[in-house]
Amino acid sequence: MTTRTVLITGAGRGIGEALARHCAGAGHVVIAGCRSPETATALAQVSGVELVRVDLRSPFDLGALAETLEARAVDVLINNAGTMGEGWERQALGGAQTDAAWLEAFETNAIGPYRVVEAALPALRRGAMRTVVNVSSVVSSLTHPPIGGLYQYRSTKAALNAITVGLALDLAAEDFRVVALHPGLVQTRMGGPDAPYTPEQSAAMIWRTIEGLPAAHSGRFLNVDGALLDW
Ligand SMILES: NC(=O)c1ccc[n+]([C@@H]2O[C@H](COP(=O)([O-])OP(=O)(O)OC[C@H]3O[C@@H](n4cnc5c(N)ncnc54)[C@H](OP(=O)(O)O)[C@@H]3O)[C@@H](O)[C@H]2O)c1
Repeated sequence: MTTRTVLITGAGRGIGEALARHCAGAGHVVIAGCRSPETATALAQVSGVELVRVDLRSPFDLGALAETLEARAVDVLINNAGTMGEGWERQALGGAQTDAAWLEAFETNAIGPYRVVEAALPALRRGAMRTVVNVSSVVSSLTHPPIGGLYQYRSTKAALNAITVGLALDLAAEDFRVVALHPGLVQTRMGGPDAPYTPEQSAAMIWRTIEGLPAAHSGRFLNVDGALLDW
């Protein structure tokens, strides 16, 4: 097995933590971006995992991340960190959603992941896989599923999808694979206890999809199992 170096944001809990544990368990090196690394004490003990402070809304953290990666190669970046924004009832039409919360969600779900790509790009260029996975959501699709509401979440993830397409085009000549990926509905703080997948199941499927990612799927929107989704 070839050892890969994987940079994962939002690795302190949920799908991100499960991804970090899955990749480290498979013998890969994991650079685990956490907003509060000091609280991720159990993850810090996992062999192969290095914690790095990354709050996507902190230009200081993003600058420090670029410095951390200066002399390194990263094979895969998983832009996993994300936020729902305000509670879903507030995000319904006529709900009490605030511009401040919406802008905060935009920073976390769209601008932040783009800035992480910028910070990691030299290291990704030194890597062997040149793969960027932007964790999106099926509710960002313009065509599926036909539900209303969730304006903060779906609009900011749709922006991430647009960024994904742009990056895939800009980096195509350098043999990069850049995709948006729906991780399934997962039992996390965001997905709730009734979601069908555990974080461990989602993480295992995501990694399998990354390992088998065809070049032709760059710039596309994928389900957790690698199947193509409509934008
Ligand atoms: N769960 C689902 O069913 C589902 C479905 C579709 C898509 N997704 C997507 O999957 C990804 C992971 O979601 P999850 O279910 O694991 O959610 P989660 O349990 O709520 O975890 C979210 C993660 O993102 C981090 N985060 C939030 N804002 C951040 C910021 N400004 N800077 C850095 N990290 C930040 C959190 O860090 P803290 O611990 O510091 O808050 C946490 O590690 C998200 O992008 C989400 O939109 C999830």
